[in-house]
Amino acid sequence: MTKRHPATIVARAGIAEDTAFGAVTPPIYLTSTYQLPALGQPGPYDYSRSNNPTRDVLGEALAELEGGAKAIITNTGMSACLLALQLLTPSDTLVIPHDCYGGSYRLFTNLAQKKQAFKLHIINFQDADWAEQLRLSQASMIWLETPSNPLLQITDVRAVCQLAASLKAKVVVDNTFLSPVLQQPLSLGADLVIHSTTKFINGHSDIIGGAVIAKDLAVGEELKWWGNCLGLTGGAFDAYLTLRGLRTLNLRLKLQQENTAAVVDFLAAHPLVAKVYYPGLTSHPGHQIAKEQQLGFGAMCSFELNAPAALLKDFFNALEYFTLAQSLGGTESLICHPASMTHASMDAAAQQRAGIAATLVRLSIGIEDVADLRADLQQALNVVAQRLAD
Ligand SMILES: Cc1ncc(COP(=O)(O)O)c(C=O)c1O
Repeated sequence: MTKRHPATIVARAGIAEDTAFGAVTPPIYLTSTYQLPALGQPGPYDYSRSNNPTRDVLGEALAELEGGAKAIITNTGMSACLLALQLLTPSDTLVIPHDCYGGSYRLFTNLAQKKQAFKLHIINFQDADWAEQLRLSQASMIWLETPSNPLLQITDVRAVCQLAASLKAKVVVDNTFLSPVLQQPLSLGADLVIHSTTKFINGHSDIIGGAVIAKDLAVGEELKWWGNCLGLTGGAFDAYLTLRGLRTLNLRLKLQQENTAAVVDFLAAHPLVAKVYYPGLTSHPGHQIAKEQQLGFGAMCSFELNAPAALLKDFFNALEYFTLAQSLGGTESLICHPASMTHASMDAAAQQRAGIAATLVRLSIGIEDVADLRADLQQALNVVAQRLAD
């Protein structure tokens, strides 16, 4: 069959494939183990840590969406990261960006320092000489997060992959912030894609999950083996909910992006906002590359308040439609303070290197009416203005 469009893949994931009763919606297989046909005769499934039919439907959908040969569905986004790292040995060097998700940064630095699992090299891919730094790094694996969390910095995936190929290094892209509907890193030359499916892919803030998608089948099979060996695979119920969420990924993202663009316009024009970070802004340093490698600018944005950080509490307290919470990518709008929340596991020096200011605020924009979102931000900024005037 010809390559299907993402909207069709998500809407049709597992639909009308039930061989037992013709269920249109794929059934959920809540079983830990499976009856074997006879002693010494394997069936298609034996134990749900290794394989589960509901999880397989989700894996097939994500592999198709990302254009990969195999997807392994994990129980968290962090276990997806841990799984990809199984390709490394202590003599290998992992190159990471200086501004990745705080939990990933914690995993990389602690595995390198406490377990000597690999050597670690940190690069700011926004530096003019990033390619020279990468050439000198002796990288075996390069980890990218683009757009990055929380500053939405853009890395040129194609350029990194071209250089990585000449260095014989594998490239892993954490695609959590966009989802395969808006960016397909394997088509840009990457070897592996990571997702925290907790975010846009599930989209309803009711599960924790992850996925690794491999371009190459042999690598995918190796990671599937490690996933089973280490017990990193996800549960059937979570896979079912993720599939349910996945069906509206395209629709949700359309509205969320539209809302984000309007919120960004509002913030950029407000005197109490010092700086807005969104790749859709023509002033964003990564705008042109984002336009080339992404199919949209996404539904995440950050901004710095033009007021002392002490007033953030008043701002957050005044908001009605932005819930103060760690996560992102759900149908509801969320707000967070990266320095004390998502990136608290980075020390102050690392936060400073990554450009995470005390006044930085990150927004995940939902599907509410954008007029209400803008009015809510306006009234909360009015509270800040009032405190400044007091
Ligand atoms: C970019 C990114 N990668 C990975 C993770 C980890 O995912 P999880 O929280 O599902 O373990 C997160 C979580 O916020 C994230 O934002």
